[in-house]
Amino acid sequence: MSSYRIAVTRPLSPAARQKLEPYAEMNIWEQPGPMPRSLLLEWLRDADGLFSSGDVRVDEELLAAAPRLKVISQSSVGYDNVDVEACTRRGVPFGNTPGVLVEATADLTFGLLLTSARRIHEGWEWVRSGRWTEEASFPFGVDLCGKTLGIVGMGDIGAAVARRAQASCMRVIYHNRTRRSDEAAVGAVYAEFGELLETSDFIVVLVPLNAATQGMFGQAEFARMKPTAYFVNASRGKVVQTEALVAALLERRIAYAALDVTDPEPLPAGHPLLALPNVLITPHIGSATHETRTRMAELAADNLIAGLQGRRLPACVNPEVFGER
Ligand code: DGY
Repeated sequence: MSSYRIAVTRPLSPAARQKLEPYAEMNIWEQPGPMPRSLLLEWLRDADGLFSSGDVRVDEELLAAAPRLKVISQSSVGYDNVDVEACTRRGVPFGNTPGVLVEATADLTFGLLLTSARRIHEGWEWVRSGRWTEEASFPFGVDLCGKTLGIVGMGDIGAAVARRAQASCMRVIYHNRTRRSDEAAVGAVYAEFGELLETSDFIVVLVPLNAATQGMFGQAEFARMKPTAYFVNASRGKVVQTEALVAALLERRIAYAALDVTDPEPLPAGHPLLALPNVLITPHIGSATHETRTRMAELAADNLIAGLQGRRLPACVNPEVFGER
């Protein structure tokens, strides 16, 4: 018989369900749309574990409502929605899913860059709407080969994007808070932030959202970019000041933006970004492939089971709760 109770904030994938069923009795929110917070807090009153996907705010209020909580497992790599220090203070391990989504997210990020540079999505609209037969020429895109790609936030996903860019004979520069010791192997040259803004033809943003990165792209940063620059954000919407981005695109101070993440998210109907001709937006699908989401769910389930059993989580953000650093 299952000895633990867990709260699950989204429908569970078959892979995760299969792993968790022998260990835990599950309360699962199966409805479309986000789970009401009041119901989650109610479920957490007697829950040993929380399984989420970055869709709930984990803060003091939530932790206080969950006196039996032994572990929180989130099926995502980013965790800007989680007060990790509060979890640590309460001795609750928090697990995420790094590594397993690197290649899928790099594919999507580079796909946004390539699609916008070559106007692939606009070409399809042109064909579908019948304009191909009526108008002779479709607006040109731009080459990747020979151009400079500036990656802001060069972690594993950045390095995987760099590999794809090198295959398209782009030059890759990057900016990180801490310079990588393996940059020669990654094939990217370090640049100061301002230099990267001023010299890149394409800028890809992959930083995690935190106090230092929130709003890091505003009017001043867009003003430093080339008027021909393409701006790609695949990290979190809040690293960009949306009004400043809209103004830069509207006034053609930069050429184009390709965004997998936005602020707000989802974008409401009638949002100014949706009216611009020089944007491509996807609905936060960096890791959204069958294989990758299955691997994420499996790792999240492994994290949850380990936490229920008082073992170190395979991917733990606050290992200090186990007396480790
Ligand atoms: C992640 O894993 O952080 C992705 O952005 C999905 O939220």
